[in-house]
Amino acid sequence: MVGVEGFEPPTSCSQSRRATKLRYTPVSPDRYGFQNIRGRPAQGLQSYPRAPGRSIGRRRLCARAGACETLRRQRPADTAGRPARDGRCRSKCHHGQPMTANILDGKKLAARIRQDVARRVGNLRAAGGRVPGLAMVLVGHDPASQVYVRNKRRACDEVGIVSHAFDLPADIPAGELYELIGELNRDDGVDGILVQVPLPPHIPGATVIELIDPGKDVDGFHPYNVGRLAQRVPLLRACTPRGIITLLGETGIDLHGQRAVVVGASNIVGRPMALELLLAGATTIVCHRFTRDLRAEVERAEILIVAVGKAGLIPGDWVRPGAIVIDAGTTRLADGRLAGDVQFEAARARAAWISPVPGGVGPMTIATLLQNTLEASLRHQGLALPPERLQGSA
Ligand code: GUN
Repeated sequence: MVGVEGFEPPTSCSQSRRATKLRYTPVSPDRYGFQNIRGRPAQGLQSYPRAPGRSIGRRRLCARAGACETLRRQRPADTAGRPARDGRCRSKCHHGQPMTANILDGKKLAARIRQDVARRVGNLRAAGGRVPGLAMVLVGHDPASQVYVRNKRRACDEVGIVSHAFDLPADIPAGELYELIGELNRDDGVDGILVQVPLPPHIPGATVIELIDPGKDVDGFHPYNVGRLAQRVPLLRACTPRGIITLLGETGIDLHGQRAVVVGASNIVGRPMALELLLAGATTIVCHRFTRDLRAEVERAEILIVAVGKAGLIPGDWVRPGAIVIDAGTTRLADGRLAGDVQFEAARARAAWISPVPGGVGPMTIATLLQNTLEASLRHQGLALPPERLQGSA
């Protein structure tokens, strides 16, 4: 071990060399890719990609952000005090005046992403490439699933992705669905395969997901793709968590070292979300039905992501002042309105940033599906490089 990073350099005396082997000298955290004291990733290490067009370094700060002791202590204090376009501090500190969180507008950002995908699909076509094809399989008549799939198909049409619709009866034998997936795997005109879940109880969802070619798994649910994300070599990433990471990019906040709490541990959102946050360098906690004190965990969250599907589960006064709150829950109420998992108005009075329901995470999920489909198609056509291991992540 002598001379190895973190241990004292070799010495000429054999006795002291023996002692040296046991004497550990701490290495600057920078060497391990942690933040340096300014909250920036260590030099020489590639940081997790940040949303384009945003820079913490060049940000003008609101004078109040500097004056507020709490904001200074919280990371990233400076970001919480970012002025609005009109120059006034929008997020404010929680002393003195009520805070009104900035809205993370998923609808607007998703529209920009869709435009970008449409442009890239157009370029692909103009360059003689094949336009991407996405097969969407819907089994049964679950009304919510029907709405989701209809919206996804419409979004494909808008950006020039060819959508292939397979609407199957609820009582289809599992074997027939397996056969269809095999055919879609072999079909060169199909770059992405999406099987809407939940499936009827007689069809084992896990088996269906594993039958999909991982290179066409635009949902990012296949164990291969989840494993790649876990090992920091993401390929196709689950749409909602990836969309949330994109949305978080809008805050301009560096996620390294942030205390992130994910409420909900589903395979579709909570678990892959935790892996995304870990990849982004956040200190990540996942809460689930066995969590002893949910309130205590939520109160400590600098980044709070809730994906349970129980309207109003998180009272606004649990939200840590200055937190970023992402609400991935959507419940249709008896009066027809959509409600999120977080009590919005009360949370908005404490958070620095918050995503609304509707208009937050939902549109990002669909926009990300389009991105995934385009990327899968480019790889399928041999037009994209394989991804490299991301550095600077946890
Ligand atoms: N059901 C709810 N969300 C999703 C999703 O993102 N993909 C699929 N396939 N089914 C879902």
